[in-house]
Amino acid sequence: MVYVSRMRVFLVWFLCLGVALASWRFMALGVEASMDFVAYHAVERRWAFFAHITLAPLALILMPFQFWKGLRTRRPDVHRWIGRVYGVSILLAGIGSLLMAFGTTSSPVAAWGFGLLAVAWLGSTGYGIWLARQGRIAEHQRWMIRSAGLTFAAVTLRVYLPFLFMTLGEEAGYTLVAWLCWVPNLVVTEWFLRRSNVPSPAAA
Ligand code: HEM
Repeated sequence: MVYVSRMRVFLVWFLCLGVALASWRFMALGVEASMDFVAYHAVERRWAFFAHITLAPLALILMPFQFWKGLRTRRPDVHRWIGRVYGVSILLAGIGSLLMAFGTTSSPVAAWGFGLLAVAWLGSTGYGIWLARQGRIAEHQRWMIRSAGLTFAAVTLRVYLPFLFMTLGEEAGYTLVAWLCWVPNLVVTEWFLRRSNVPSPAAA
């Protein structure tokens, strides 16, 4: 059991770091060469695009550190600083993703999928951080777990996309993934919160 749990933790770290570092490939290769299918965002909404592709991967790298219990208990100051950087990254990357979602050349259904994800990402993260500042730590933990589930959409999207492209084709696959990358994550997160020992506000 301990082995399975360690494997799961390792997998989450590996996927978050892997996807984030791969996303920064544009720094070495340039946007045209590394992600030509979204390069039009770099022309039409430059600030939003670069804020998103620089800071969203940073949030993805920082996210697993916040669940590292040893770090949280031994160095709460580091936990708070990482939390601030995570929050500011999501604020800017999230606003960027909202602008990109409604400027995308993909289908309107995909635009709404990404757009609602952006709103949920900004909302859960902002509310979670506000709760921490109010000292409502049990609720803070629960909302930051929701935020993490949404940040993890960057990973689930890239895991599902090749299968969806192969089975449904590019247009339908991309439209579906705009929802599939985050709605099931939210369901799993709620299920986890119900069965885990993360204290509910009432218990706290
Ligand atoms: C969770 C909220 C997120 C939303 C709503 C969101 C939304 C979007 C949208 C709309 C696009 C443009 C797609 C298009 O126009 O076809 C995009 C591209 C991109 N996003 Fe996100 N994103 C989110 C999280 C992340 C995270 C956490 C990462 C970290 C790796 C990330 C990395 C990227 C990258 C690198 C691109 C450029 C295209 C690519 O290489 O896949 N996003 N995102």
